[in-house]
Amino acid sequence: MSFTIAIDGPAAAGKGTISRAVAAHFGFAHLDTGLLYRAVGARHLAGAEPVAAATQLTAADLEADDLRTPEVAQAASRVAAIGAVRAALVDFQRAFARRAGGAVLDGRDIGTVICPEAEAKLFVTASPEVRAERRYRELREKGIETDFATVLADTRERDARDMGRTDAPLRPADDAVEIDTSHLSIDEAVAAAIAAVDQAMKERTT
Ligand code: CDP
Ligand code: CDP
Repeated sequence: MSFTIAIDGPAAAGKGTISRAVAAHFGFAHLDTGLLYRAVGARHLAGAEPVAAATQLTAADLEADDLRTPEVAQAASRVAAIGAVRAALVDFQRAFARRAGGAVLDGRDIGTVICPEAEAKLFVTASPEVRAERRYRELREKGIETDFATVLADTRERDARDMGRTDAPLRPADDAVEIDTSHLSIDEAVAAAIAAVDQAMKERTT
């Protein structure tokens, strides 16, 4: 039996952290769909045409170890605005969502476009300042030289592009449960997410 948990939200809201914990809690598989766009963005930075890169994406592309840089994130957000790039990635994501045993997918358009029929939908947010602070700390820990103002500007630019695009813009699905993690610890955010999924599971069986 399949059960899909869709988790959307802006950069550094805590989607990945929550998705991994929720997947582990329910014994579901997890797909970070941002990685697909990052891999296409990285191939584009290396000279590939974005639609061709998306069509020919391989597992090896997803394992490249430089996908978490700010440059790749910006490139990902630019190629993600191209409708044909998004279209090339739909089937893979939908097949993953419907795998037996349950799946958690996190991204921007999972609850709205990829899996509008998902059994549970969460929209994870936090203020731009909190998100930029988290990303800034992560980049510093990785030894990437940057400053807070640059990370905040980068975060706002990516938010605006992701929310403003015509094709699959970032927005909460009408039936998504919103979790604002601005003032939550990771444990609190994960507990809120698990409670929302438990509730969705209960509603389906009653
Ligand atoms: O996947 P997404 O970009 O939405 O965010 P993430 O990678 O899960 O989280 C970004 C950073 O925020 C990580 O370093 C998390 O440990 C941290 N975080 C946090 O400090 N408090 C939370 N409630 C959630 C995440
Ligand atoms: O980790 P973070 O939230 O910073 O970014 P990500 O989830 O890895 O996504 C990188 C970029 O890919 C986003 O800024 C979006 O432009 C794009 N993306 C998308 O358009 N649709 C998705 N389902 C996932 C990511």
